[in-house]
Amino acid sequence: MRIGIIGAGRIGSTLARHFAGIGHEVAIANSRGPETLQDLSAQIDGSARPVHAAEAARFGQLAVVSIPYGRIDELPAAELRDKVVIDTCNYYPDRDGHDPELDEDRTTSSEKLRAATGANVVKAFNAMYWENLRDRGRPKGHAERLAIPLSGDDEEAKAVVSGLIRDIGFDPVDAGRLGGGGRKHQPGSAVYTAELSAAQMNALLHG
Ligand SMILES: NC(=O)c1ccc[n+]([C@@H]2O[C@H](COP(=O)([O-])OP(=O)(O)OC[C@H]3O[C@@H](n4cnc5c(N)ncnc54)[C@H](OP(=O)(O)O)[C@@H]3O)[C@@H](O)[C@H]2O)c1
Repeated sequence: MRIGIIGAGRIGSTLARHFAGIGHEVAIANSRGPETLQDLSAQIDGSARPVHAAEAARFGQLAVVSIPYGRIDELPAAELRDKVVIDTCNYYPDRDGHDPELDEDRTTSSEKLRAATGANVVKAFNAMYWENLRDRGRPKGHAERLAIPLSGDDEEAKAVVSGLIRDIGFDPVDAGRLGGGGRKHQPGSAVYTAELSAAQMNALLHG
């Protein structure tokens, strides 16, 4: 699959390594431009192509948005419209600035990303600390395999994202729809950054 990743920090670059490592074609962007991503690309044997954000969005059959939530208005909305987009972003008011709608829990950061871009958003990879995402992938059935929660309104899109999660060594656990389900794995929730098996995560999300 062609995957465009917007955001080349801890999560974006970790996902680029994983996805390129299992044979996907990856294009990756940051805010400063592709010339600043040559080192990262070289570290992944050139298999993640540095591009501008709009190009990453166009390139991907699926896109990943992994930037500070406070910067989502900078995203290439036209290129992301109707595309399956994995949202790894979390809202941290001290970093992102206060958003009264989120502070009062009238909506969620992922629903605001969907409203800002028109993308088919699946929230995933937001609830695992990046070093665990980098290091703790394990084969299917392994006793220490960790779970990753995801949420979204499109079952087909969630199935695609669940496949990616499995293929890089984790167990996907569906938390539900983008709003209600997403709230169950955002900062402050019981499963956020928790190191859990799929059974443990299911119990916390749905028990
Ligand atoms: N760190 C974690 O353990 C963790 C875990 C789960 C989820 N998250 C969430 O996932 C998101 C990314 O986290 P991170 O830790 O990977 O962040 P990070 O290391 O600070 O990296 C952020 C990346 O976003 C890029 N960026 C910012 N604005 C952009 C724009 N308008 N267009 C394109 N790229 C842009 C930055 O590029 P420049 O450097 O060029 O500005 C940088 O590559 C955040 O919302 C975070 O809360 C983090």
